[in-house]
Amino acid sequence: MRNKHRKSSAFHCNAGSRCSLPALVWSLVACVLMIHFSSHIRHDDKAEVPVHLNRKPLTRELEEIEEENFQMPPPRGKRSPRAIKRRGPRRPPSAIDEFLDESSELRNLFFPDRRTVIDPVNGGNDSMYFYPGRQWLDTDGNPIHAHGGGLLYDENSETYYWYGENKDGPTYQAHKRGAARVDIIGVSCYSSKDLWTWKNEGIVLPGEEVNTTHDLYKLNVLERPKVIQNDKTKQYVMWMHIDDVNYTKASVGVAVSNSPTGPFEYLYSKRPHGFDSRDMTIFKDDDGKAYLIYSSEDNSELHISPLTEDYLDVSQTMRRILIGRHREAPALFKDKGTYYMITSGCTGWAPNRALAHAAESIMGPWETMGNPCVGGNKVFRMTTFFSQSTFVVPLPGLPGSFMFMADRWNLADLRDSRYVWLPLTVGGPADEPLEYSFGFPVWSRVSVYWHRKWKLPDGWRVD
Ligand code: DGJ
Repeated sequence: MRNKHRKSSAFHCNAGSRCSLPALVWSLVACVLMIHFSSHIRHDDKAEVPVHLNRKPLTRELEEIEEENFQMPPPRGKRSPRAIKRRGPRRPPSAIDEFLDESSELRNLFFPDRRTVIDPVNGGNDSMYFYPGRQWLDTDGNPIHAHGGGLLYDENSETYYWYGENKDGPTYQAHKRGAARVDIIGVSCYSSKDLWTWKNEGIVLPGEEVNTTHDLYKLNVLERPKVIQNDKTKQYVMWMHIDDVNYTKASVGVAVSNSPTGPFEYLYSKRPHGFDSRDMTIFKDDDGKAYLIYSSEDNSELHISPLTEDYLDVSQTMRRILIGRHREAPALFKDKGTYYMITSGCTGWAPNRALAHAAESIMGPWETMGNPCVGGNKVFRMTTFFSQSTFVVPLPGLPGSFMFMADRWNLADLRDSRYVWLPLTVGGPADEPLEYSFGFPVWSRVSVYWHRKWKLPDGWRVD
């Protein structure tokens, strides 16, 4: 099945060449016909190739659009006539203001309280259901701490490992204008066969308590750890964002272990290719090559670089992508030979609109396709369901279906940040290929479907 269509011909207009009026008119007519023709190809294709037929019925259900209704509370406190004169009437709070406000009436919608926890041990009728935004317990009954994380599927043990930031400490600001933070505790690891029941494997890379010069010293920053296994060396290699309290070190760190459950040995940090590097991820391709993708040039663009064969460093090659787009939180995946990436905007811990991007070659060029979020309501879609991307993982046995993993950051208490895991599918025409030209492919749409409650097909697990 091909979801992606190439235009059959290219339309060239050489700058500087002279065009007569009839030629111009005919070109325009040809253009309109081509657009009309292409929309027909897509339409017919959709009819001929039932995209959903090769998926299990439950996945189809997950693609149903679920609306979410919430009423914004009325603005609190009126302004005096003098204040209105000076500053105008009070602006009604935005949904994001409400989200960031600990005392908002909507607090329980964004951060449901402990009574609604997802509990794999005492799941009862709710067994196997994902509830994005609810507290999620591990098999010991403790909240899962794997923020800004990613999954590794380990073929040896046929097990998923979830690595992420352990933020189980108090939130504070190092100084007045500093970002809210939690001291480095370390990288947690959890294991699972079904992506719902997670066993705590402990802290596989601990923070450093005493040595103030160590990258992992508790007053520094360790974010977005990701792990892949090297097929040749058999080592498990962790890459992460390493920074100082003011985010000026802007480096990547590398750690290594012989076991997915650690302990990981911290090797070093560096500015890849001499550039600042903040939010990052790594991606292992089907041919065993791996890549580092990082926000750079003060988050104004992303850089992508192949790793060395042993995955312990970046190679010499680097490409700048999405230049000037100001994107972070990259989550990369591949479907039927095409590379896709979800990113967020740069608004600290506050949520913003996700964008999906696509590329034929991982090294680019990358094109932007628009907001992948479907359902909920407009505010939900404009805030990535009040969360920020961190990882996308394929769902074996469900072709074209993926798990979209995101963090719902709790600014006031980062330790209580939540996970928003939702089904992601690839298929259908993309809605806004921004750099659209006739020479480029028309990408398949990436869709992340909002569900208040959902589950994977019954019995889905990896062994
Ligand atoms: C947004 C990033 O995506 C997070 O990982 C974290 O660095 C925050 N910014 C800090 O404000």
